[in-house]
Amino acid sequence: MKNMNIAIDGPAGAGKSTVAKMVADQLSYVYIDTGAMYRAVTYEALKQNVDVNDGLNLIHLLHQLKIDLMNQEGKQIIQVNGVNITEEIRSKAVTNQVSYVAKHLEIREEMVKRQQELAEGGGTVMDGRDIGTAVLPFAELKIFLTASVDERAKRRHEELLSKGHPSDLNILKNEIRKRDQIDSEREVAPLKKATDAIEIDSTKMTIPEVVEIILSLARERK
Ligand code: C5P
Repeated sequence: MKNMNIAIDGPAGAGKSTVAKMVADQLSYVYIDTGAMYRAVTYEALKQNVDVNDGLNLIHLLHQLKIDLMNQEGKQIIQVNGVNITEEIRSKAVTNQVSYVAKHLEIREEMVKRQQELAEGGGTVMDGRDIGTAVLPFAELKIFLTASVDERAKRRHEELLSKGHPSDLNILKNEIRKRDQIDSEREVAPLKKATDAIEIDSTKMTIPEVVEIILSLARERK
């Protein structure tokens, strides 16, 4: 199969990263989690007391950050300036602030540039919110993966409980709704389905079923 780029966009908690990782593994492609990049700069902003509404100081901060996405023994690792922050970027504080950081034009321009460089040689599965519309508008395959808010919150709730973390389903539902709203209503590259993306509603589907559909679509395009 030729080394194409596959874009997977969709709202929070639709299962994009799990699916994207599995598709990448099957094709021996590189998985690129662009949400982790926005989370990394958000984590650093919170740590260094940079206001998430202050675009100029945020871009100044981002220019000082070398963000590396790596796969170590099948696990996705994210490093900033050589420090592993894989766990830290999943915290509640980062999750609830990241959409404010991701609103800024300057931040998005720099991220898009970095993400396009990562995809230059093809052979990537990239997930995010604006991959099909802004980062890789010429991607050979674009997927828009959705699921109902109830289902997305339920999956996240079960995941947290299974890891022994406390979780409240209603709070989660509200947080997911809020993040979707900010991501969809922002001025720059809002979350939306690219006109040539194929929409998959995973509400009543299993992960392997979604992966199989994407793999067969990829095979059709080889
Ligand atoms: O994918 P994940 O939920 O980790 O993304 C975290 C946040 O990063 C999103 O809610 C969104 O605000 C931002 N994001 C974005 N564009 C992307 C990927 C993520 O704005 N391509």
